[in-house]
Amino acid sequence: MEKVSSTKFSKLIYTCSDGLRFATPEIVAQYRAGRLQTEVLADISCGIGGQTIFFARECQKVYGVDIAGDKLECAQKNANLYDLGNIIFIEGDALSPDTVKQVTDADIIFSDPARPAAETVRQTDSLRPGIPMVLDVYKDITDKFAFEAPPQMPPERIDFDCEREYISVDGKLNRLTLYFGPLKQCERSAVVLEDTAFHRLKSKDRSQLPQISEIAEPKMYAFEPDPAVVKAGLLGELVLELKQPLEIVPIDAKRILLTSDILIESPFLKNTFQLIGKVPYDCRQINSFLQGTDIGSAVIRFIIAPEKYWDIRNKIEKDLAGGKTAHLFKISRSIYLFENLRT
Ligand SMILES: C[S@@+](CC[C@H](N)C(=O)[O-])C[C@H]1O[C@@H](n2cnc3c(N)ncnc32)[C@H](O)[C@@H]1O
Repeated sequence: MEKVSSTKFSKLIYTCSDGLRFATPEIVAQYRAGRLQTEVLADISCGIGGQTIFFARECQKVYGVDIAGDKLECAQKNANLYDLGNIIFIEGDALSPDTVKQVTDADIIFSDPARPAAETVRQTDSLRPGIPMVLDVYKDITDKFAFEAPPQMPPERIDFDCEREYISVDGKLNRLTLYFGPLKQCERSAVVLEDTAFHRLKSKDRSQLPQISEIAEPKMYAFEPDPAVVKAGLLGELVLELKQPLEIVPIDAKRILLTSDILIESPFLKNTFQLIGKVPYDCRQINSFLQGTDIGSAVIRFIIAPEKYWDIRNKIEKDLAGGKTAHLFKISRSIYLFENLRT
């Protein structure tokens, strides 16, 4: 066991083996604990306690269960660090009848299961403890379950009747939580976490959603939707929420931009770009367009072979002197140059 500092936690934290790597960062743990506030909660795969600690701040009593004794020891020490005396730690297999009978007063069962290290496509049935097994062995105790699942999994690959909540932190997809029974509030949701606030978008019935048209060219402003919104498939809900005319510009298999002639601000928009020009895809022409402007560097936001990246970038940036950055998107055969207004 060692005590280490990590960007995930505001304090030095006790950890062992892969405990810290899989621990829930404070910002996510705090948000989830707020959503799952109850009297008695059982975190049945608690690891070093990253999430358990925050449950204990919101609930009267928390059980922290783990099969690995060394991780449980870290969790106990971490609970002391955070001055928490309302966690009962249980070493054991979450699926064993002996563990189940020790948590019969739990209102909510939460599990952030272990994931196999080598898995090319994430599956819910390879998680340990497995979600269907947990639902089965705890069904006589409660119908309120929440699970963490790999966030790479798209909603359609999660074959349960549950809410799929994708969470982003600092513009990056961070966590996926599944809520079952009365905890389910919708089919899909996206949460953007900020230091002291969160923003949540819920899925709606398809019939309530606007048709968003696709166009080939961006308008004056282009917006990069937050990855949690994209992953949860909530672009229609976002456009409805923003109440502004927006269209989609498909960029490539991984990227889309929303576009409008109106400047729109929203926490669900990760980046807001203003169009500064359009030139053919030719490094010399891009460079001469940028000469004499206040742009000094270029972020390439289109697919190029990694070995060609610096060659292309150096040609584009040759002899530029400005302090600003241009963001370059390739749409069809043209390069659209933007300035990022959200820096
Ligand atoms: C992803 S980690 C949990 C991390 C934790 N949420 C945190 O924030 O620190 C998964 C944990 O599940 C535990 N685990 C795996 N199978 C288990 C089982 N059958 N019963 C209880 N715990 C189990 C592992 O030992 C591991 O500590």
